[in-house]
Amino acid sequence: MVFLKMFRRFYIETFGCQMNVHDSEKMAGVLSGEGYRPTDDPKEADIIIYNTCSIREKAEQKFFSELGRIKPLKRKRPHLKIAVAGCIAQQKGKAVFARAPHVDLVFGPQNIHLLGGLLRNDRGRAVANEDNPFIAESDLPVLRKPGGRAWVSIMYGCNNYCSYCIVPFTRGRERSRPSGSVAQEIAGLAVQGFKEVTLLGQNVNSYRSDLDFPGLLRAINAIDGIERVRFVTSHPRDLSEDLISAMSGLEKVCEHLHLPLQSGSDKVLKQMNRGYSLDEYRRKVDALRERVSGLSLTTDIITGFPGETDRDHRSTIEALEEIRYDGIFAFKYSPRPGTSAALIADPVHDTSKTERIEEILALQDAITLGINRGLENTVQEILVEGPSETDASMATGRTRTNKVVNFPAVSVRPGDTVQVRITSARKHSLIGRLCEGLHT
Ligand code: SAH
Ligand code: SF4
Ligand code: F3S
Repeated sequence: MVFLKMFRRFYIETFGCQMNVHDSEKMAGVLSGEGYRPTDDPKEADIIIYNTCSIREKAEQKFFSELGRIKPLKRKRPHLKIAVAGCIAQQKGKAVFARAPHVDLVFGPQNIHLLGGLLRNDRGRAVANEDNPFIAESDLPVLRKPGGRAWVSIMYGCNNYCSYCIVPFTRGRERSRPSGSVAQEIAGLAVQGFKEVTLLGQNVNSYRSDLDFPGLLRAINAIDGIERVRFVTSHPRDLSEDLISAMSGLEKVCEHLHLPLQSGSDKVLKQMNRGYSLDEYRRKVDALRERVSGLSLTTDIITGFPGETDRDHRSTIEALEEIRYDGIFAFKYSPRPGTSAALIADPVHDTSKTERIEEILALQDAITLGINRGLENTVQEILVEGPSETDASMATGRTRTNKVVNFPAVSVRPGDTVQVRITSARKHSLIGRLCEGLHT
């Protein structure tokens, strides 16, 4: 028991996108190397890290109020270190201290490798925000949750400067990781028993090292032990013929694509600096659906971009009706300081944003349910993730098309691939039962 006390404990809370979730795994990897162990209870932690997101103002406000709430913890445990990481840290730097004096460390996504040094030096308050070469990012140890699925960074940053978006300012210029280093990491994951990898980047379609993105997919498809390959996020402008061929020809690449449309209005798309028209987008979707059978398609939509009229909103509604996505994420536009859209002086009133997003979500719920009902009575290949969070008698997993399926858990383990017959469809998940004798 005394032995256990020797470990210091870390607690990480993650906000924002999958990239942040994966960055938290890297922080956990660095901290493990420094002799720390994870805990689920912030009250017993010696270091608490908030890995933050600044994509929308609301997320930022929510974070600062949560940060305020843990102040008493620091009074009770004076040695406790509180760190702010992620995109808010990158953007605000030492201004975080002015807003939250109980914070000790601030470091951005480019500086995760400095975490060990910051802790060891114990210089008191410290900020590490200088831009560092990406090699340090890709070579970090990663502490992943066991289970069948793993996330792997293939590139960092973004060069697109969509007019509403903060990411190019928080994650820096686009850098692609060498394909050999990506392949080596994935081969190691296969040895550890991971079955599915999701390749991460803000715009994976513009990946370029010694290979381009379709070339990278071909290299990863050849790695023994990996059964499923996914990737996020694809930019419609950079979705090439060759990528469509790779998706249709490579058996491990799953039949799911997240292809953010953002708006159905060409005027708004132009102001967003997205680099495609609705018609160009539609033609790519047609080609994808023709070549990749059973493709599931999801998207992101922003409502209430400055100057968005009712007519523009109708164009988005019509695009959703026509394309019939399997699922969408919809967001109310939020002006971000430093972005060019924040300078457009034609805001949409919040009431209109709310009405528009509600109309979009109601329409999409009906479409998703309709598509999911079409899967009733079919047999789907499921990669088991573990027990369902809401009901321990059920197991949860995903189809190759990335739909969540819950089914009564009879002797299945995370990482198993099983055949499940879909018995009923819900809006956000499917219910099924295991097919006898089809447990591979
Ligand atoms: N690189 C990805 C996603 C980046 S952020 C891409 O280009 O698709 C995820 C989503 O957040 C975006 O697709 C967009 O729909 C939304 N988003 C980004 N900035 C926003 C803002 N200022 N207000 C509202 N939504 C925003
Ligand atoms: Fe943001 Fe556009 Fe880059 Fe996506 S592609 S991260 S929306 S700037
Ligand atoms: Fe948020 Fe940064 Fe991701 S702003 S969405 S955590 S890249």
